[in-house]
Amino acid sequence: MNDVSARIQHLREDFSKAVLTENAAGTEPFVFFERWMNEALDAQVLEPQAMALSTAAPGGRIASRMVYLRFAHNHNFSFYGNYNSLKGQHLNAHPHAALLFFWPELQRQIRIEGQVNQMPTEQSAKYFNERPRGSQIGAWASDQSQKLNDRKQLENTEQIYLERFKNQDVPCPPFWGGWTLSACYYEFWQGRPSRLHDRIAFELHNQQWLKNRLSP
Ligand SMILES: Cc1cc2nc3c(=O)[nH]c(=O)nc-3n(C[C@H](O)[C@H](O)[C@H](O)COP(=O)(O)O)c2cc1C
Repeated sequence: MNDVSARIQHLREDFSKAVLTENAAGTEPFVFFERWMNEALDAQVLEPQAMALSTAAPGGRIASRMVYLRFAHNHNFSFYGNYNSLKGQHLNAHPHAALLFFWPELQRQIRIEGQVNQMPTEQSAKYFNERPRGSQIGAWASDQSQKLNDRKQLENTEQIYLERFKNQDVPCPPFWGGWTLSACYYEFWQGRPSRLHDRIAFELHNQQWLKNRLSP
């Protein structure tokens, strides 16, 4: 059984856990996001804070990768990483991105889009200082997205920084920090039977959130 296509072709989940009505979604998409995130946390979904982040290169080539949502406040969604990484280069050139959560246990998906800005340095440092020491050293040791000769090179670099910051607090690297996406679009998706899913989208228009039901 190594033909992946044969194995996945007929996998089908019929979604019937819940419904999403216009009424339930309300008028404030951030409040509804908080409600769904709280429900994902209560349901003990595995890593509900993990989200796909899609960014664009200057020529329009798109890349996606998972990152952790670390702060969510009033339409602002923050995540962290290396400013020189591929996502960092993309966001410098084109400060717009898409976030995607998928919680299969709840048969729910949330799409969010918006403008992205780098966080003020002090705010990044504040979060960096709360991270476990191993992750702090890792941030210094990883020239994120650059080619390595081998695993050893990475481990040697880790050793260098373990030595350098021995017996002292690890400072936030100047090339490491947070980004905040300010949402201008949300879509809440609830799986329904026969692929007739519920989709409620909110779009920011003249500082008003316009709500629409979309065809699945
Ligand atoms: C569940 C999960 C969470 C992750 N969280 C982060 C994160 O918060 N920040 C980060 O820089 N990379 C995170 N990564 C690694 C990224 O997916 C990616 O490999 C890395 O950021 C480099 O991407 P880039 O080369 O496109 O910049 C995570 C990976 C997974 C699977």
